[in-house]
Amino acid sequence: MPDFIARMPKAELHLHIEGTLEPDMMFELAARNSVELPFDSVEEVRAAYEFTDLQSFLDIYYQGAAVLRTTADFRDLMWAYLERAASDGVRHAEMFFDPQTHTERGIGFEVFMAGFAEARERARVELGVTSLLIMCFLRHLPETAAFETLDAARPYLEHIAAVGLDSSEVGHPPEGFERVFAMARDAGLRVVAHAGEEGPPSYITGALDSLGAERIDHGVSCEQDDALVARLAAEGIPLTMCPLSNVRLRGIARIEDHNLRRLMDRGVKVTVNSDDPSYFGGYVADNYRAVQQGLGLSHTDLATLARNSIEASFLDDEAKEALLAEIAEMAISD
Ligand code: HPA
Ligand code: ZN
Repeated sequence: MPDFIARMPKAELHLHIEGTLEPDMMFELAARNSVELPFDSVEEVRAAYEFTDLQSFLDIYYQGAAVLRTTADFRDLMWAYLERAASDGVRHAEMFFDPQTHTERGIGFEVFMAGFAEARERARVELGVTSLLIMCFLRHLPETAAFETLDAARPYLEHIAAVGLDSSEVGHPPEGFERVFAMARDAGLRVVAHAGEEGPPSYITGALDSLGAERIDHGVSCEQDDALVARLAAEGIPLTMCPLSNVRLRGIARIEDHNLRRLMDRGVKVTVNSDDPSYFGGYVADNYRAVQQGLGLSHTDLATLARNSIEASFLDDEAKEALLAEIAEMAISD
């Protein structure tokens, strides 16, 4: 089963590049850039990854990102992720980045976009992994800051496929970002949004109706609203779920309680992703393994999840067909 999971061609659609910063790279970059860390060892860092909710994670995640300063740092971070993802059978990745985390520290788009471009091109050539970038607005900051971010991104829009919305969810409903998302859509960007990770189902509806989201990132709380589940299924709106993240941030007590399988059974197009793998104890194949074991998924279920990930991606039809054909060729017996 683990081998089957790693061999299955798949897309990863919910991955924060800043959340792939492994503790050893954090120390390496801190030394390279003379940044002081509040930790003395990799073990101390890992011990600090004991989260109680989304905010307790975000505080540490933003602190960790402070070691990222140069184009080489962003290149090395992204290359490490894409290489790791390739070994999990990821053939296409749609990766979030948080520009405001960097521009607030005086690190501009020219710095991180150059590093991202270099790593993505190398991954395409050397690993056969294609990728897209999704620019997230931080929802704990005002919409005016999101407008400034969109403006700063203008020279780089050909390298950005979509916009997203992340950071502290509760108290920051999607409706507050309606205008900046409309402007992003006008600029030709696709739209996704985090919703229903800790927030209520109304945030999912808001992301769809106010922002024009084409996919919902997480979407766990949709299950509290039967009409919403029916809508997601009927409209084929994908959920990019992150099971290990939900357990680590205590939205869900145990992997065995995760609603991913119930939602699949109700016809929702669910996908499996890693969110912030360095912080949540697992990359994408680990997430597939966790739900396979915790929810008793069959080979057929796993293939459905992999197929969903390709179908829910922003790849063109030709690229989707090629990957779906590879999945179809895998011998599946349950
Ligand atoms: N939720 C919201 N914001 C985030 C996350 C997440 O899981 N990871 C990084 N930023
Ligand atoms: Zn996320």
